[in-house]
Amino acid sequence: MKAEQIKEVFHKNIMLIGFMGTGKSTISSYLSKWLGLEEVDLDAKIVEKAGMSIPKIFEQYGEVYFRNLETEVLKEVQQREQLIVSCGGGIVLRDENVAQMKAHGKIVLLTATPETVYERVKDSKNRPILNGHMNVEYIAQLMEKRRERYEQCADLVVATDGKTVEQIGEEMMMQLLA
Ligand code: S3P
Repeated sequence: MKAEQIKEVFHKNIMLIGFMGTGKSTISSYLSKWLGLEEVDLDAKIVEKAGMSIPKIFEQYGEVYFRNLETEVLKEVQQREQLIVSCGGGIVLRDENVAQMKAHGKIVLLTATPETVYERVKDSKNRPILNGHMNVEYIAQLMEKRRERYEQCADLVVATDGKTVEQIGEEMMMQLLA
């Protein structure tokens, strides 16, 4: 597929959503290189805007402040087109965010089991939501609590357990082009 065709098919932004540790950033970088589309990481945008790390934002200003910044950067990004956007795991928690994403993007949900997520995030110090709860049981509970919101938001779903980045990318493309 030629770059021009890709840009036509992916006129809208591709929004990658899913629980922490489902591989959104990794897949985003891969797709961006593969398709020649610009990649945007919403968490990185938040850090840039706030001038501090995500754990520091939570610690100093609390979660609501973080969520407000998240909604703000999402709105900014949605004014553009043809981007691969990797979203923070909590983006689906606000109806306002979901409406924004549905209006401007094609929404891809990445999934993984709680065990896989735990293996991927267990050494992370950058996820305040899991502070003091870094275990499979808590991850499973929170994932279940959010499951319906993720599923209702998604245009398509790709399971990532045991797959390579290439396999996930290919599966996603097949579904996007179907
Ligand atoms: C969050 C997920 C994080 C980050 C913040 C909150 C969440 O992003 O936005 O720590 O509530 O699930 P990742 O999903 O990229 O880890």
